[in-house]
Amino acid sequence: MAYENITVETRRHVGLITLNRPKALNALCSALIRELGQALDAFEADDEIGAIVLTGSEKAFAAGADIKEMASKTFIDAYLADFITNGWERITTCRKPVVAAVAGFALGGGCEVAMMCDFILAADNAKFGQPEITIGTIPGAGGTQRLVRAIGKAKAMEMVLTGRMIDAVEAERAGLVSRVVPLAELIDEAVRVADKIASLSRPVVLMAKESVNAAFETSLSQGIQFERRLFHATFATEDQKEGMAAFIEKRSPAFRNR
Ligand code: CAA
Repeated sequence: MAYENITVETRRHVGLITLNRPKALNALCSALIRELGQALDAFEADDEIGAIVLTGSEKAFAAGADIKEMASKTFIDAYLADFITNGWERITTCRKPVVAAVAGFALGGGCEVAMMCDFILAADNAKFGQPEITIGTIPGAGGTQRLVRAIGKAKAMEMVLTGRMIDAVEAERAGLVSRVVPLAELIDEAVRVADKIASLSRPVVLMAKESVNAAFETSLSQGIQFERRLFHATFATEDQKEGMAAFIEKRSPAFRNR
């Protein structure tokens, strides 16, 4: 499919989606969000793909929702179109793991899209922020919720109330990103990590992702119960038999996604 606001490629068993509106620092206009959803649909449907990497440019992962597109919206426009929810949450419904590889600015909706991914690898030049308050609005794609869960109330509240950006080191210290890597190595490292995930048992990877995500939606005892059921379910897979046999026989497992 021909896209105008993103590029899409396959590297080994990884689907790589690159946000590509350089003149607008990858501002997330509605056409881009639509294309992102289409690309995710295509990679989800592709059996050869086991994980997805979402990235931007070296200067910007994404500088937020497109301010020029939304500046004149009325309440009724936003409400009737369910602005932001509509289309954006597609990332969160992706069953295959999605790794955000963030270089440069991840601001507003850009930070929110990165947080919708399963984890964030940051380049050493990454900057995260929720600057919506400085343009007269508030985060509208989950920022007030996911940022609090990721880094806690004190830092999230300061960022949301002041618009202060944090750099990659502070983001890692706060737990927003899993790791910081040199800018030049970001994409290769993200693809390497995603390909490692893709090499594992797909059903078991999906169960692991589902179970971690349950931690955000349930009480501890319900979450543990959910985990236990999925843990038990792994014993119904051929890949669990293969994985454990391979360990005992001191060889590499050959998972068949069964
Ligand atoms: N929407 C639309 N266009 C944007 C944009 C955005 N979010 N961010 C940057 N651009 C455009 C600029 O307008 C500029 O275009 P022109 O050359 O046509 O003027 C181009 O990208 C380059 O930007 P700058 O000249 O500003 O680049 P800079 O290096 O001086 O500054 C920046 C970079 C600090 C990221 C700055 O662009 C900036 O502050 N951007 C806006 C950040 C922001 O407020 N994001 C939140 C948006 S609201 C939101 O996301 C709501 C939500 O929760 C979903």
